[in-house]
Amino acid sequence: MAAALLCFLLAGPVLLVSGSPVYDSNNGTVPLVLWHGMGDNCCNPLSMGAIKKMIEEEIPGIYVLSLMIGKNVIQDTENGFFMDVNEQVSEVCGQLAQDPKLKGGYNAMGFSQGAQFLRAVAQRCPSPPMKTLISVGGQHQGVYGLPRCPGESSDICDMIRKALNSGAYSDLIQKHLVQAQYWHDPLNDDLYKKHSLFLADINQERGVNETYKKNLQLLEKFVMVKFLQDTVVDPVDSEWFGFLKTGQAKETETLQESVLYKEDRLGLAAMDKAGKLFFLATEGDHLQFTKKWFDANLLPYLR
Ligand SMILES: *[C@@H]1O[C@H](CO)[C@@H](O)[C@H](O)[C@H]1NC(C)=O
Ligand SMILES: *[C@@H]1O[C@H](CO)[C@@H](O)[C@H](O)[C@H]1NC(C)=O
Repeated sequence: MAAALLCFLLAGPVLLVSGSPVYDSNNGTVPLVLWHGMGDNCCNPLSMGAIKKMIEEEIPGIYVLSLMIGKNVIQDTENGFFMDVNEQVSEVCGQLAQDPKLKGGYNAMGFSQGAQFLRAVAQRCPSPPMKTLISVGGQHQGVYGLPRCPGESSDICDMIRKALNSGAYSDLIQKHLVQAQYWHDPLNDDLYKKHSLFLADINQERGVNETYKKNLQLLEKFVMVKFLQDTVVDPVDSEWFGFLKTGQAKETETLQESVLYKEDRLGLAAMDKAGKLFFLATEGDHLQFTKKWFDANLLPYLR
């Protein structure tokens, strides 16, 4: 696997049955929580399972928790498409709070949509404390379009596209379609602000929740990875917290150019000044990177 291009987009819900070794959580290592992307699950041996194993080999003694949303990998995969994100976040907050190995704090790494979901965990659930958040291809300002769907999920994705086009901000679709919950339509900014149940809330679009701002700033580091040839996330700027300028769908703006930053509604400007924001870029399509790149660029944040 050493030089192989790791592709984490394979969707098939594969059952991985293996007893994971019990680690001493206080072994000079910081525990790590992983949240998978759309069409994936906690334990797929070709994606999250492989990442978990790779990290455990590189950092002996580390406790890695790859989140499962639901009772098994099939539910976990389905929930990535259809479960209310606010409920998913609150379920995860519960899991983390009950895990004795995480008491002293943990690092978190989210893949694709799992990244913005983990940011919500940081903003809403400060205990146990998240230390470093690594967003791998996350969409912090959402998406406006689904240019290509991950892996084998194309039928589901066609259906999702149709539903989003017919009314992403209707209550029914907001509640039951995960992608609608980070759908960000720059041509219908009012609708987005009013009706986006998840993203507009965590991005302080309806008001400034001081708790969110305070909690996010508790992070020691917030690392965002952008994939330079990404054909899944539109616009790709969202992976660095940028987005389309409001009122049109062509020109983009960076995080630093946004109102969110200029008014510092979420504490990101303060974090930037404090040197807590890290913007990484890598060649490759969505979530595709080599082990060599991972070891050189992300592992150092986990040691
Ligand atoms: C730390 O973890 C490694 C690998 O699992 C183990 O060999 C070692 O005994 C542990 N050390 C302590 C102090 O628990
Ligand atoms: C702000 O966020 C906290 C943490 O999630 C929540 O308990 C509180 O209700 C929110 N306040 C408002 C005004 O939405």
